[in-house]
Amino acid sequence: MAVLDILRYPDARLHTVARPVAVVDDRIRRLVADMAETMYAAPGIGLAATQVDVHERVIVIDTSEAKDHLLVFINPEIVSSSAEKKACEEGCLSVPGIYDEVERPERVRVRALDVRGEPFEMDAEGLLAVCLQHEMDHLQGKVFVQYLSRLKQSRIKSKMAKLDRQVA
Ligand code: NI
Repeated sequence: MAVLDILRYPDARLHTVARPVAVVDDRIRRLVADMAETMYAAPGIGLAATQVDVHERVIVIDTSEAKDHLLVFINPEIVSSSAEKKACEEGCLSVPGIYDEVERPERVRVRALDVRGEPFEMDAEGLLAVCLQHEMDHLQGKVFVQYLSRLKQSRIKSKMAKLDRQVA
């Protein structure tokens, strides 16, 4: 396993639309293991393959307190979402230090493949529902700051540029 580099907004590669995984094989299982290690090391509660510059539909999530409940979603699809929406503060490993509210459906039902390539469905609410929708956005090339005003987006971009200069 390996800790992978996480792309940082406004890197254009974050806006790539991921393609479906054709076959869940050892290559994909290695990607999942590396993504999980990268997420736990960050530390974060979710990571999409897009963020490690792999443009295939793979997500890892662990919203548990003990960080011992890894969820893997390959080729995830939203089957249904609640009419009720809820605003929650979100953050992202690709946009470090930035947190802001995004409104999303409160509950979703998702269908995906597991690491054996077996299909499953899951109902999600609360933090898990937020996280799932946030990570699925990544697979569509969308970063959560794109829900914010243009002014906020440009402020975040200059903040990130400043951060890059500090690192360099
Ligand atoms: Ni994110």
